[in-house]
Amino acid sequence: MSLTHPTDSVHPLDVPGSDPRVIAEEAASVIAERTGVSSHDIALTLGSGWGQAAESIGELVSEFPASVVPGFSKPALAGHTGMIRSIRLESGAHALIIGSRTHFYEGHGVRRVVHSVRTAAAAGAKIMILTNGAGGLNPDWAPGTPVLIRDHINLTAASPLEGATFVDLTDLYSPRLRDAVKGLESLDEGVYVQFRGPHYETPAEVKMAGIIGGDIVGMSTALEAIAAREAGMEILGLSLITNPAAGISPTPLNHEEVIAAGRDAQTRLADLLARIVKEIA
Ligand code: HPA
Repeated sequence: MSLTHPTDSVHPLDVPGSDPRVIAEEAASVIAERTGVSSHDIALTLGSGWGQAAESIGELVSEFPASVVPGFSKPALAGHTGMIRSIRLESGAHALIIGSRTHFYEGHGVRRVVHSVRTAAAAGAKIMILTNGAGGLNPDWAPGTPVLIRDHINLTAASPLEGATFVDLTDLYSPRLRDAVKGLESLDEGVYVQFRGPHYETPAEVKMAGIIGGDIVGMSTALEAIAAREAGMEILGLSLITNPAAGISPTPLNHEEVIAAGRDAQTRLADLLARIVKEIA
């Protein structure tokens, strides 16, 4: 008896023996075809709060749902179709904007989590900007504060690298790019701690994150950064602090408040990201 029904479609990244880099190449070809842009220079993943940025970065060349590109997952929630956009900057450089992120907590495996980053690399991008919404350990960071990621601690117990791939992660978040951003705006820096989620951390876990050197807690980015480094990209990481992490403020976390903090910060973040991209691309 066959365990899979013949009409079940297996996700291409889950096909035994499949090579994620080959699927990323296929995805990049579809993007090149759809956009008419043979090579992109920079790529951005827009996390919560950062979504409006695409419009301020440059002129829209093309946009389409990520689900038409090989290897991208169907949206987890109806009506939440992640879009991929190609933007032409004033300088003539091209930015690939990834508006859909597959989170590790969705449980589909790390290959799918980092597919967008591998696709961006295959599409030519040399710089990967990873943004997210996250909890802050520093009580001075009010909701809506953007913070530069200086380094990360990966608490997912997973890696996007398969086999004996010993990749160095020193200076993973590019000192050159961080300096460029600090030249534009004075931002605090912090160490991002990726938890698996989707539950928020307990106050004890947040306390532990601080003791081991963390400043920011979230559920994305670290695995993507590792894949971006493997692909040879230069990485910039930015967190929007949407809330004080659990136990830092006396009130419990509330998902609606996290979303609202992102919404309120949108315009300022879009302006910041547009200036950053202009400076570095
Ligand atoms: N923890 C983890 N992820 C988050 C948080 C948080 O406090 N806020 C927004 N995303």
